[in-house]
Amino acid sequence: MSEIESANETQTGKQESRIFPPPATFQAQANVSGMDDYRALCAAAQTDEQDFWCKLAREQLQWHKPFTQGLDESNAPFYTWFADGEMNVSYNCLDVHLTNGNADKTAIIFEADDGTSSKISYRELHQKVSKFANGLRSLGVKKGDRVIIYMPMSVEGVAAMQACARIGATHSVVFGGFSAKSLQERIIDAGAVAVITSDYQVRGGKQLPLKAIVDEAFTLGGCEGIANVVVYQRTGGQVHWSTRDIWLHELTKDQPADCEPEWVSAEHPLFILYTSGSTGKPKGVQHSSGGYLLWTKLTMQWVFDLKPTDVFWCTADIGWVTGHSYIAYGPLAAGATQIVFEGIPTFPNAGRFWSTIEKHKTTIFYTAPTAIRSLIKAADGDATIHPNKFNLTSLRLLGSVGEPINPEAWMWYYKNVGRDLCPIVDTFWQTETGGIMMSPLPGATPLVPGSCTLPLPGIASAIVDEAGHDLPNGQGGLLVVKRPWPSMIRTIWNDPERFKKSYFPEELGGNIYLAGDGAIRNKETGYFTITGRIDDVLNVSGHRMGTMEIESALVANPMVAEAAVVGRPDDTTGEAICAFVVLKRSRPTGDEARQIAIELRNWVAKEIGPIAKPKEIRFGDNLPKTRSGKIMRRLLRILAKGEVITQDVSTLENPAILEQLKEAL
Ligand code: WT7
Repeated sequence: MSEIESANETQTGKQESRIFPPPATFQAQANVSGMDDYRALCAAAQTDEQDFWCKLAREQLQWHKPFTQGLDESNAPFYTWFADGEMNVSYNCLDVHLTNGNADKTAIIFEADDGTSSKISYRELHQKVSKFANGLRSLGVKKGDRVIIYMPMSVEGVAAMQACARIGATHSVVFGGFSAKSLQERIIDAGAVAVITSDYQVRGGKQLPLKAIVDEAFTLGGCEGIANVVVYQRTGGQVHWSTRDIWLHELTKDQPADCEPEWVSAEHPLFILYTSGSTGKPKGVQHSSGGYLLWTKLTMQWVFDLKPTDVFWCTADIGWVTGHSYIAYGPLAAGATQIVFEGIPTFPNAGRFWSTIEKHKTTIFYTAPTAIRSLIKAADGDATIHPNKFNLTSLRLLGSVGEPINPEAWMWYYKNVGRDLCPIVDTFWQTETGGIMMSPLPGATPLVPGSCTLPLPGIASAIVDEAGHDLPNGQGGLLVVKRPWPSMIRTIWNDPERFKKSYFPEELGGNIYLAGDGAIRNKETGYFTITGRIDDVLNVSGHRMGTMEIESALVANPMVAEAAVVGRPDDTTGEAICAFVVLKRSRPTGDEARQIAIELRNWVAKEIGPIAKPKEIRFGDNLPKTRSGKIMRRLLRILAKGEVITQDVSTLENPAILEQLKEAL
């Protein structure tokens, strides 16, 4: 396994020796204070697993009907949690705050693309969500129905998710950057009955259509199950209208401002979120209500050390799991004041994050390494937008998510944004895990740049070989989780077999969770470092993409005979997509090749979305294949990096082809 070999190399090649213990003042006020506190929680989870989780679930959530059992393993790996308990997620995010002193507290500070901002209190958000939920009910949307949400970053986007939760409808948010085709595929796979969208989204001063893309999805066919499209008016720009369309403001205008929640089982599917795997077809990751909410709320307290006075800002989009867990659900369940940001980090200039932190006196800032790396570059080029030009003294905690953060970027973030005072929580998790799995606890864990350090209490992370045997520290292997946890994926929507095969493979015994990442533990500290995916999944700017998905999109183009997609390291985006393409006609060169490459990149944007556009395309008469016809992606990865192939390629059917694929266009 080449990924694991290279993990061992990284480990021996360069050991990170810098270590940053929590500042005493931070530790003194922390929710989990010191490593002894952390270890005590871990021990409690291990000593009596049922008791540990049940206690927390009773403490943290309000139950309409109490549960009698925590974890149920009788149908493993289809684990359930608190299954006979009844509750409602939206009730636990909103109604609870009407009576606990938070009613007039700001729930959301909305920072619009153009720099204007507005605030909404818990009481107002409760009303907005209730009206929204009543509106959906009036359209006939009911418990168990699936609703697609294709929305910009907005209070209405969060309210749409909460409104679905309130009436027991299962939402599936589709990122606003996905194409009509991707949207249509998700509408069909989810069997959705309604779509919630907006006329346009505004990003970086530009208006981008959303409603028009929904219309286009309909023209692709198969969306007949959608009875209504609810449209939030963001810009008032032109839209086409049909009988199934209804404006959100019309729908909610006469609705009552309270709405009895639908009480559901803790196992009721709160949402399905599609993510990339190693085949061409995205997987609908299905999450629960009770276990999911418990973990997102708890991690707000443990990892983000949330206090009543904090201003929390997670820069993710609600189209990704980070935006579900740490915008739409966790912060609200925990009663936080949070920023919801519509824009992009570089508009009106690359100081936008820093000026927004200053403006709203943000205390906890959670973003992705790719954003940090691009802002480092920008600050190097323009001193006026360097973080040291802004008053960032409100910050007390920083976070990172979505991909490995390289130690240099970590140090820059620590020094320039955190002024050497703020712990950084490097949080490892996945769409499938529902919430953070491994991360420092900021008032306890000594930090090491580039390491997500240790599992959270109750999370049984381990590193094993391909037969499932534990590996010693210092040896890279497969990252697994040996015990179930409350917010884990429940199944893949419509595909339980794929769920079992992907996450609980027989080779590992059938009951331990396979993350899909390689990892290694430090010999001395036992700290975990993630070494990258072990499957054909790429991570570009923190966005997860399957190479097979992009290959399928490319070969769907009438010009293309064959395509192979690989990732290569990229300074800013982490990984970049590199496609090797064989056309049906003869191999193009020069300007013609460049022209066709542009066409194919646009084609992929149309098929999947702009985020899936290959950064580079190279053309060959063929692809390097073994005699049995298998494409040697390993060799393509070397070529994509611009490195020389040193190993023996004599077993290839067509070694000469490597020469053709060596050069960029
Ligand atoms: C994959 C999951 C975490 C929510 C957003 C992404 C990579 C994520 C880290 C981290 C190293 C990380 C892994 C993982 N990843 N966080 N802190 N350090 N790698 O969720 O789209 O499901 O992607 O992102 O490879 O498997 P996702």
